[in-house]
Amino acid sequence: MDMPRPGGANGSAVELVPTGISGLDAMLYGGIPKYDQVIVSGGPGAGKTLMALEFLYRNAKAGETGVFFTLEEDPKSIIGNFKSAFPYFDDLDRLIENGKIVISGRDVADDMIKSDNGVELQFGHIVSELEDIITTEKATRVVVDSVSTLELVVRDQPFYRKSMWALVVNLRRLGVTSILTSEITSLDRKSLNFKPEHFIFDGIIFLYQGGDEATRRVQTMEVIKMRGHRHSFITAPYDITSNGFKVFSPESMTT
Ligand SMILES: Nc1ncnc2c1ncn2[C@@H]1O[C@H](COP(=O)(O)OP(=O)(O)O)[C@@H](O)[C@H]1O
Ligand SMILES: [Mg+2]
Repeated sequence: MDMPRPGGANGSAVELVPTGISGLDAMLYGGIPKYDQVIVSGGPGAGKTLMALEFLYRNAKAGETGVFFTLEEDPKSIIGNFKSAFPYFDDLDRLIENGKIVISGRDVADDMIKSDNGVELQFGHIVSELEDIITTEKATRVVVDSVSTLELVVRDQPFYRKSMWALVVNLRRLGVTSILTSEITSLDRKSLNFKPEHFIFDGIIFLYQGGDEATRRVQTMEVIKMRGHRHSFITAPYDITSNGFKVFSPESMTT
């Protein structure tokens, strides 16, 4: 499964792709290893969709073409939510017009209701649609939001795991660096439960919601794994501000 990866600058064993997200790159000692597929997991409202889109936005500003492949919300509502959450990202429209950010995808649940296709065919369709768009747009950065939706179209857990595996192999073959999101039911670290997708991806970032819900929700982020690369082991608080995510990692305070 592992493919050799080219070496990078600054003595790092691998070439890194900065996420561009404030505080997160310090936690990642520079970024995500190039060509890796990273899963960002959290409960509803944790900010998975916005964080994945900010990754594409920051990378688009650095000249990289990104595809945002949605499996649950329609592209218009994704753009609307992004603009309302991040009003300072005023060049988003320009990046979309110039094809640096391509928002595509489908409502899988809706497809399932309307279609009488077999489940395996559905999954195959989704993956080949994603591959087509990556190739056509010559994208180097990809988001799939969220892979949990694919659980709906597969018949059982072993098949879900196999399907995730196929998705990762295809993305790696296409030479892209990706963030894929997934839903978890446990919102705090103590009741963390791993799902099949966590054993397949190169990197894992968890978003937790803890604290006293009655007064203030505390949102924190942890890098669980980043294959072949150093990362912070500290769970850091984060905020979703009008100018993007702010991760308050100790590493970001000292740099
Ligand atoms: N316009 C906004 N202003 C401030 N915060 C917002 C805005 N829109 C979304 N958010 C924050 O982002 C969260 C939703 O982010 P989203 O990425 O859609 O979550 P997820 O994909 O994890 O369900 C909300 O719970 C809220 O905290
Ligand atoms: Mg979402």
